[in-house]
Amino acid sequence: MSNRTFTMIKPDAVENGHIGAILEKINSAGFKIIAMKYTQLSLEKAEKFYETHSDRPFFNELVTFMSRGPIIAAILEKDNAVEDFRELIGSTNPSEAKEGTIRNLFATSMGENAVHGSDSDENAKIEESFHFTSEEILS
Ligand code: CMP
Repeated sequence: MSNRTFTMIKPDAVENGHIGAILEKINSAGFKIIAMKYTQLSLEKAEKFYETHSDRPFFNELVTFMSRGPIIAAILEKDNAVEDFRELIGSTNPSEAKEGTIRNLFATSMGENAVHGSDSDENAKIEESFHFTSEEILS
């Protein structure tokens, strides 16, 4: 059981003015933000972050979308963080996301799905060190 996960509020949710509402959902669900930055991925950084998906037909669409505008990147702390955060955000496809989940409330499509959440403890570690140095993590 992990106590940390990595998230991004994606460009669609930033463009649509949902940063505050999404952070409120994260706080209300008991996650502590231990690192956070407002930034924008270059196309090259997006390709690197999502390299495990490079064979997928949606890869170009994904990296173009993820680099088109600002994002919030954050590390969240809570018991059982990876699993509980995936529960909070809901299914990748917002039309299948449970009522009240972040993607149900704020995502518009499978590609533009408002938030990212790590899918394993191992990936959470890789993703947090992709975006943050140890000095930027305030646990
Ligand atoms: P996420 O789980 O954060 O990371 C991988 C992303 O790929 C996923 O969110 C979606 O944004 C995107 N994705 C997954 N499946 C599809 C698809 N079928 N079409 C377009 N984008 C997708």
